[in-house]
Amino acid sequence: MKEINLQNLMPHLLYQFKSEHELEKTIEKVGQIFNHMRENLESYANDEKMISAYVAYYLSTNIPKLSHVLDMVGIDLNDYENFYDIGTGPGTFLIAAHAMNPKLNLVGIDKSDLMLAQAMQILKGLGVNSDYSLGKKVGEFEKKKSLVLFSHSLNEMSENEVGNYLKLIEDQDVLIIEPGTMEVFNKLMPIREKMIERGYEVKFPCHSNKACQLNPATDWCHQYIMVKHNDEVERLTQKLHRNRRLMPLSVFFYSKSAEVEKCMARLIRVHKPTKFSIEWEVCMSDHSIQRLEIPIKHYSKKEQKELLKVTAGSAVNFEVIKELSDRLRVKLI
Ligand SMILES: C[S@@+](CC[C@H](N)C(=O)[O-])C[C@H]1O[C@@H](n2cnc3c(N)ncnc32)[C@H](O)[C@@H]1O
Repeated sequence: MKEINLQNLMPHLLYQFKSEHELEKTIEKVGQIFNHMRENLESYANDEKMISAYVAYYLSTNIPKLSHVLDMVGIDLNDYENFYDIGTGPGTFLIAAHAMNPKLNLVGIDKSDLMLAQAMQILKGLGVNSDYSLGKKVGEFEKKKSLVLFSHSLNEMSENEVGNYLKLIEDQDVLIIEPGTMEVFNKLMPIREKMIERGYEVKFPCHSNKACQLNPATDWCHQYIMVKHNDEVERLTQKLHRNRRLMPLSVFFYSKSAEVEKCMARLIRVHKPTKFSIEWEVCMSDHSIQRLEIPIKHYSKKEQKELLKVTAGSAVNFEVIKELSDRLRVKLI
């Protein structure tokens, strides 16, 4: 596959931008639709110019995003033969998955003809040479080991549409990467229940299928990944006054068979550090919520710097130094 950069992508977009300015303005418009004008979501999926801007910007950023999410969850794409992407849009995650494991058979499903046309053009143009198919219907799932991804697509689907996909998927592993907002989290919680009913185990972010103890009216579980992009994307991101380095996400991983590494607790919120300690809120293995105080005197300056970069979603293992009235003072293992 060719290297992913604007020069290699541009000839394969459905719409040819006449200037960098036109591209930037269109990326801005797509961003506004996602963030503030969600009632217009249908419009971008049927607009060549917006789809092309989406590919130009998000394809490059979705590759490190998928890689970080897989690391955080503990999934190895080499363990799978098929990669299904439901609501694939222009196929950005198919390309990301191919970049990580070129042997994967790729299947992209989307309801928009134009998105599928763009996906086809970009997969061909970049020289993706594995088996791939693109279409509107999932069809029958092969018995081969498959990872099924929903990325920024579940939140656009009705309950019925989600239910129909889940019925078709049956026993395959399911990875969900959606925006890290409270609204999306509240949509993902009933899906968690449906997955459990269908015999799945919640492998991430939860420790088990036990009920979540966060108050859904005031709180939501989401993760952050810190991503470094190539210079071209960094430049565009700065021009657009975006922050694509620290990305809030709602990630779930469901499986009936996969083993992922267990941890004592999962970091769900990073509080402001004090002069003496780092302050975290974690979800314990019994799903109780616990505040941790981590005195920094146990760590070198370099380690302290690294600890300040740890984001929600990370696995946490610790030993208790002291039980305080409202928190545990701990040392990380
Ligand atoms: C925001 S895009 C995300 C594209 C891609 N997954 C990504 O993250 O780059 C959402 C896509 O979901 C598709 N979509 C929404 N509802 C769908 C459904 N019921 N079945 C298939 N695709 C759907 C839309 O057409 C759109 O292409």
